[in-house]
Amino acid sequence: MNGKEYAYKVTAAGRVNIIGEHIDYCGGKVFPAALSLCNTVYVRPNGTNEIRLSWTTLNESVALDIRDLEQYRSLRYGNYQAGSALAWLQAGHKLVGCDMLQDCTVPFGSGLSSSAAIEVSTIAALAAVAGEKIDPVEIALLAQKAEHEFAGVNCGIMDQYASACGRKNHAMLLDCKTLACEYVPVEMGAYSFVIINCNKPHNLVESRYNERRAETDEALALLMPHTGITCLAELTAAQLEKHAHLLHGKVYDRVKHVVEECARVTAAEKAMKTGDMTKLGEILNASHASLRDLYEVTGAELDALAHAAQSHPACAGSRMTGGGFGGCTISVVRTDAVEDFEKYVCEKYAAATGYRASCYDAAVGDGITVEKL
Ligand code: GLA
Repeated sequence: MNGKEYAYKVTAAGRVNIIGEHIDYCGGKVFPAALSLCNTVYVRPNGTNEIRLSWTTLNESVALDIRDLEQYRSLRYGNYQAGSALAWLQAGHKLVGCDMLQDCTVPFGSGLSSSAAIEVSTIAALAAVAGEKIDPVEIALLAQKAEHEFAGVNCGIMDQYASACGRKNHAMLLDCKTLACEYVPVEMGAYSFVIINCNKPHNLVESRYNERRAETDEALALLMPHTGITCLAELTAAQLEKHAHLLHGKVYDRVKHVVEECARVTAAEKAMKTGDMTKLGEILNASHASLRDLYEVTGAELDALAHAAQSHPACAGSRMTGGGFGGCTISVVRTDAVEDFEKYVCEKYAAATGYRASCYDAAVGDGITVEKL
């Protein structure tokens, strides 16, 4: 492929979430980082009313009529791009016909937000080719709209925000209620993050995700009149206990996870800022246990993978990352032992589940990048 035939090369990142799981849509603070794994879009105007899509990894090409993008909601390839273009157009922006070559290095279904990377980079590419300003926060919000409407996932803002606004070597402490974001240097001393995919082919992820979101919405509606909270992340542990009788079994557990996970984010922020990796690891372990027992979004494979990681002597802690029901773990591991750790975890995990895990070599990268070719 000769990139020079195109006008712009635009990238947006996949992300890993260090901690703050399933609380973005509750208005909580989350702590993700953008990854060097990304989606790249090569784009040029084509003077037509079509967005012509092709992929480096697929023998397919798809033409989207920009005057009727609604029709592509259930397209097998290209629905994310169609939804992204429609969100861009509906926000009042100029949409021009263009050729787009897409190249994704974020593994699909890994829980590392390949979909956000695709949506965000597509919108940024449309902005570039139309000569419009790139506003990463606006692009993140439009990408989230595309995910809701074309992918059917009622997601929070974390993935799209990290994908658009990430910064090399920095994690992001993102307040999902106000969208205020503090960049925190990822300085881990003798430790590194290791990301491993359990490679479980996951299904029904969308509906199970949406079910959790509905449970937290229900809890908020029940608790609001008694507490004055405006989002679940504002609920204190004392308020939860006082009003526990309003919430039936599972819903109580979900809310307990939200309240405690919010506290863990604050503790993790402190651990990162003071370089206390032992503490950070402990907090990750506690998060995994809560996602397994209270929020119930892990599953046998992620549990086996986290368990294998946690049992290695050079691992300070490990947990699932992202939406769950499959995908990846993130572990805090002594850098000098990473190779041994990966080998040990993969063997132990395969013995427990029969699946082969994959380890990723990813650094903390930038959000949107735009290069004129
Ligand atoms: C998915 C969603 C995010 C977030 C995570 C869980 O990745 O897209 O908005 O809710 O799950 O933390």
